[in-house]
Amino acid sequence: MFSRFFFIIAPFFIVNVSAEQMVHITIGSDAVSSLSENKINNKIIKSQGGVTLMSVPESKIEEISHLMHENFNRCGGFIYHSNLEKAKKAFEPQITNKKIMDYTIGQEVVVNSFLKKANATKIYEVISKLSTFKNRHYRSTYGVDSQNWIKSQWEILVKNRTDARVEFFKHEYSQPSVILTIQGDKNPEDIIILGGHGDSINHMGEGGSEKVAPGADDNASGIAVLTEILRVIVEENYKPEKTIKIISYAAEEVGLRGSNEIAERMQNTNANIVGVMQFDMTNYPGSEGKLFLISDYTNSSQNTFVGKLIDKYIQIPWGFGKCGYACSDHASWTNSGFIASFPFEASMKDYNPNIHTDRDTLDKSKDSASHALNFAKLGIAYLVELDR
Ligand code: BES
Ligand code: ZN
Repeated sequence: MFSRFFFIIAPFFIVNVSAEQMVHITIGSDAVSSLSENKINNKIIKSQGGVTLMSVPESKIEEISHLMHENFNRCGGFIYHSNLEKAKKAFEPQITNKKIMDYTIGQEVVVNSFLKKANATKIYEVISKLSTFKNRHYRSTYGVDSQNWIKSQWEILVKNRTDARVEFFKHEYSQPSVILTIQGDKNPEDIIILGGHGDSINHMGEGGSEKVAPGADDNASGIAVLTEILRVIVEENYKPEKTIKIISYAAEEVGLRGSNEIAERMQNTNANIVGVMQFDMTNYPGSEGKLFLISDYTNSSQNTFVGKLIDKYIQIPWGFGKCGYACSDHASWTNSGFIASFPFEASMKDYNPNIHTDRDTLDKSKDSASHALNFAKLGIAYLVELDR
């Protein structure tokens, strides 16, 4: 009798126990009670300065990300940490070990000639193609396919350059990040990073990794901007002095996971990153085409420089905005002690309301990539001015 119980019933208990694999997140302390209210098993480890470190079941990560949106109107946010030791670092003040950049503008001739080549149609085509994947979820085959496609596009662009390579950065889940590197020819140890997340998510209803999530604005628009920046600098045969890295991060929508791992790796290897720019949501012109620099989890000196670049090269109105939490991959870099900026499509009351649904499609942005074009130009100006 007992042995029959053991062989028939016990395996179910074992499966159940292992399904409750706990992981660590940091979350705004104001959002903690909503987890218990929603019957999400959690254990608080530490609370300090409005941030709470807790363990939660791995299986609830998506539900938490959904909850943050619904209940906190996007002011909850949470960060996934791969282990407890790394999670505790979220409470330690970070030291930016990098040398101070002089943020002067002096490459007008080169920048202006490059800006003429930036093309909204090319950006449109990339957004359009990326939106055709059923989703780009970090645990779906589509999310792997889409990162493969991005890698192949970037490889085509740099195929004649011996100073460039494109690689996957593998994670614990199926979706890899994609990293393109152009080796600097004078100061290769100095690194400039431009990035955006390649994944997408649909928070409506049930179905996880099988739901339709075109993510045209969030964030095919960022990847298309990165691709256009790359296309222009390669077409212009630009040979950077510093090393350039262009990254399509995996798994942003589930706690900045891809960028966190990459930024931590760079910090642990003492990489000399001189500046980071994040592109996430670039194409919805919700504030009459005005652009916003996110002021939290970013570097104010670099933001001032980016503001000057907009005035000089893009000549459109801009302002400062605030997420109020670690809302995108720029926060991973900031948390690892690096200098990051995040130019954003609109003010916090006017951004694209269709994100994280099956309605995040190109037609919501006037079926055009004209707003995203401003971000591609800004990225080119930032890259060339920081490089010299
Ligand atoms: N693109 C959004 C971030 C965003 C949304 C910025 C609206 C500004 C306004 C990003 O893809 C996202 O959804 N981030 C998550 C946070 C993450 C830690 C799960 C969010 O905002 O909930
Ligand atoms: Zn998102």
